Amino acid sequence: MTLKNTVDRWGPVSQALHWLIVLMILGLAIVGLTMDELPKTPKYFWVYTAHKSMGLTVLALVVVRLGWRLYAGTPAPVPGTPTWQERIASVTHWLLYALILAQPISGWLYDSASGLRPFRWFGLFDVPKLTAPDDALSQNAMAAHGLIFWTLVALVAVHAGAALYHHLFQRDATLARMLPRGWLKLAASTSAPAPAAKPEEPPHVV
Ligand code: HEM
Ligand code: HEM
Repeated sequence: MTLKNTVDRWGPVSQALHWLIVLMILGLAIVGLTMDELPKTPKYFWVYTAHKSMGLTVLALVVVRLGWRLYAGTPAPVPGTPTWQERIASVTHWLLYALILAQPISGWLYDSASGLRPFRWFGLFDVPKLTAPDDALSQNAMAAHGLIFWTLVALVAVHAGAALYHHLFQRDATLARMLPRGWLKLAASTSAPAPAAKPEEPPHVV
């Protein structure tokens, strides 16, 4: 078994990075949207630091994912996909990459410009500041952090909707090839050659 992507499937590394990043973003979104309502106890700062540390981890994982993509290549489009769909999918995917890079960077910029003392990444080391304290920049970066997030939500809805549409209605391998082999029975048949018919099988007699 190869770890790299093949012509007809995403390999295990690309799959793991895709779904891990999805889960981390889901967790970050839930915490990000609720953390300012927490009571101002020491736990409050702990949750903020956890959100920031996890957010920077997503940034690092997206960079690794792009590096791996460069090294391991990408599968060919699912057979039968019209060119216009291929183009829309490609634009959507690059926009998603841009947003999942911009989301943590805007958070990091906000944190840097706000003039707070450096936070420690999961308590291990001080995270460097990107800029000197700057009120206007800090406010803009936080506004961008929210805006980027809601743009991401909208695009992910289209992206996930398209994946489910392909699976349920087109019945092709788009979703199955982003999951471990055999997880989705329905579409698996289109990603592997169909078994040859047995010529010696007798005709069906009622
Ligand atoms: C992919 C990574 C990230 C995601 C998905 C994410 C998501 C969010 C969301 C949804 C919010 C709420 C925004 C709003 O209420 O308008 C938020 C707030 C925030 N995020 Fe992030 N974030 C990420 C990375 C980061 C990073 C790397 C930092 C800092 C280093 C950070 C710092 C903050 C801060 C300080 C808030 C403000 C909370 C408040 O007081 O309302 N985030 N984040
Ligand atoms: C935070 C949420 C998500 C983000 C940021 C995201 C991002 C991406 C990106 C950037 C790609 C392109 C991979 C590449 O070309 O290197 C991709 C592929 C894919 N994603 Fe997502 N995704 C998310 C959620 C989902 C969900 C919920 C589903 C399914 C319901 C899904 C299904 C897929 C599939 C099937 C592919 C492969 C498409 C193909 O082979 O052409 N994604 N995703």
